[in-house]
Amino acid sequence: MSEPLIFSFEPMHEILPRVRAALNGQGEAQLSVPNPDLDLQRFPGERTPQGIWRPLQAWLDLADRLECHLMTPVVRGERLELHLRRLPGASLHRRSKDQERYGADSEFQRLDKLEDPILLDDLLEALARVRLQPGARILDVGVNSGRELQLLDLAYPGHDFQVVGIDVSESALQLARTRFAHYSFRTLDVNNLPHAALGRFDLVLSLGTLQSSGIEQDRVFRTLLRDHLSPGGALILSLPNCRLEAGRLSYGARLLNFRRPDLSLLLKDLALYRRHLQKHGFRVYVTGKYEIVLTAVPQVGPTGDQPTLESAASGS
Ligand SMILES: C[S@@+](CC[C@H](N)C(=O)[O-])C[C@H]1O[C@@H](n2cnc3c(N)ncnc32)[C@H](O)[C@@H]1O
Repeated sequence: MSEPLIFSFEPMHEILPRVRAALNGQGEAQLSVPNPDLDLQRFPGERTPQGIWRPLQAWLDLADRLECHLMTPVVRGERLELHLRRLPGASLHRRSKDQERYGADSEFQRLDKLEDPILLDDLLEALARVRLQPGARILDVGVNSGRELQLLDLAYPGHDFQVVGIDVSESALQLARTRFAHYSFRTLDVNNLPHAALGRFDLVLSLGTLQSSGIEQDRVFRTLLRDHLSPGGALILSLPNCRLEAGRLSYGARLLNFRRPDLSLLLKDLALYRRHLQKHGFRVYVTGKYEIVLTAVPQVGPTGDQPTLESAASGS
């Protein structure tokens, strides 16, 4: 085991390179730092008798930036012992590109996104915002094994909805059918939308899907709005802003083949959705952290009327 690095009054610009060097050399680093629980009324960087105050979040962020796992800290009186470890990190994103990439046997099924408290809360808030009536029609695009559909019961306990889930992965849809036998699931490539038999929906939900490689994102998005949303209907989309590896959740969207986060593509796509939706009379909310949630609800005019989607139908 390596000697602990003891930090009290050292600024982060000294700590960062020293911890990075230790990790590069040994694949792990032990740190002894001031215990932030001793004084909860401080701001990051404030000096206390024990050293510079930082919240535990700062050490989690340091571990994230240095691509390692922060083991559960140990409290030793006025000090906190931290252990950072590099893990081999099996990524969920390094898989084949076939239609079963997210299938029943894929690594993806090990993940339950609703364990992310921020995403869970954002999605429940988004669902409350869209004010679904009992019997509302809901289209879930890229529904996969249907895990996200449990949100409907959580947001609207006791309500019945008509839910249609579409995806290219037949094996994931089989799992969804076992979870939600009362909903309907179809194997469908979203690039082939519009699909007249689907009809229109009061809510179009698409989580972590539209940016997938192979999806003609812009065209599919406009088609969903124009051909599959009912007048007065709402939209909830989410875009990943993290990288998932076994044992580690790392903040920030990546460009293809980039290790470091770069949010430019995410911001471009969000801006495009938001501009288009606002232009067509929607009120748009953007929330989230590891996954960004965009909620679009029709603006209610001064008379209480909701705008129709005729303008969206123009496709402009
Ligand atoms: C990252 S997963 C997201 C799944 C789920 N919505 C979630 O948030 O956990 C993307 C989903 O989109 C599906 N998908 C990818 N390309 C598709 C396409 N062209 N048509 C329909 N579904 C597609 C995948 O099979 C997968 O289930």
